[in-house]
Amino acid sequence: MNAVEAFDAVDLIRTKRDRGELSTDQIDWLVDAYTRGYVADEQMSAMTMAIFLNGMTRREIRDMTMAMIASGERMDFSGLGKPTTDKHSTGGVGDKITLPLMPLVACFGVAVPQLSGRGLGHTGGTLDKLESIPGWRAELSNDEMFAQLRDVGGVICAAGTGLAPADKKLYALRDITGTVEAIPLIASSIMSKKIAEGTGALVLDVKFGSGAFLQDIDRSRELARTMVELGQDAGVATSALLTNMNVPLGLTIGNANEVRESVEVLAGGGPADIRELTIALAREMLELAGVADADVEAALDDGRAMDTWRASIRAQGGDPDAALPVAREQHVVTADRDGVLVRQEALPFGIAAWRLGAGRARKEDPVQHAAGIDLHVKPGDVVRSGQPLFTLHADEPARFARALDAVAGAWEIGDAGSAVQDGGPLIAERIGR
Ligand code: URA
Repeated sequence: MNAVEAFDAVDLIRTKRDRGELSTDQIDWLVDAYTRGYVADEQMSAMTMAIFLNGMTRREIRDMTMAMIASGERMDFSGLGKPTTDKHSTGGVGDKITLPLMPLVACFGVAVPQLSGRGLGHTGGTLDKLESIPGWRAELSNDEMFAQLRDVGGVICAAGTGLAPADKKLYALRDITGTVEAIPLIASSIMSKKIAEGTGALVLDVKFGSGAFLQDIDRSRELARTMVELGQDAGVATSALLTNMNVPLGLTIGNANEVRESVEVLAGGGPADIRELTIALAREMLELAGVADADVEAALDDGRAMDTWRASIRAQGGDPDAALPVAREQHVVTADRDGVLVRQEALPFGIAAWRLGAGRARKEDPVQHAAGIDLHVKPGDVVRSGQPLFTLHADEPARFARALDAVAGAWEIGDAGSAVQDGGPLIAERIGR
């Protein structure tokens, strides 16, 4: 005989539909019953749409997060004997910050367990970028991860299937039911995975602007506040930076080219925006982990962060000195007049890189590691007629036309002295303690 279920999914859906509040026991049951297949996808779809439309209280969001954590394993790094700190970004175009950030923070003796994902759609995945390094391996066992944190100090690897399995199932459902952009669902999804990962401190890079997941800064702020509260309630020292995603980050969008740019930052160079954001997030992560006044700029400039990067790549089977893949075909777009680049919209460039093969449309698709875009100028730069503005890289030349369609109208050259796209400051606000 089947066990008697504690609640009826239809009652819970009606409660949320009519703007009521679900109890802790109801949320625990809902998440558990959905994960084991008792609550059907169509019932959970109705529930996620009711949440999308009517929201959740802070208590309900916390209960949802805790129920998703309880659906799987919770990692514990207390045996390492050093503080742990991590960063999560809501994703952006050209956002490769995790790559230089992990070794930069780890070289100060704080462990960085960075469990990452693969990309879907126009925002790239950290693992896809690192997999362009010959031999590098994303899948590690918990023991291998622990050993790397102890010996090297930091690790970027694939999140195992054991972390918050309820979120995996729910996220896939939200993706096909138009309910991804609900703040209670985004916050509980992200934070359940990060809290289950077992980090002691967490810095959230919450993007706003045309290339961000939530474009409006007020909604990004609300998401950031919700996640900071969830982290703090769960005993994780959490803060957030609200950062601008109107313009692509850095000068590369893709996979191998983003690794190349990250290595430039680790060598003390690289584009100013990537360096600025890496330094700001590193300071924040170290402070939350109890390391005050760390000279993070010096660690980029004197090679300490690079040493940790090289050790971490080797520990995962990669060769830090190996040549990165190069695409078979290039297409250069040049300026058709003298002037100033006044606009360069992040989202269309992200979509173009995806169409070139740098991203995937379905989660089982492979990515082409050498595909992507190198930007040669940024808004505000003076350009001369005939000067290269950006280069498209692809293995198949047939991909160029659709990528060029994506960026048509997304960049503009104005007369000298014209107003330049107002990206605003890169780091707009800090939300935290
Ligand atoms: N990333 C996640 O992990 N979950 C969401 O809901 C949205 C973005």
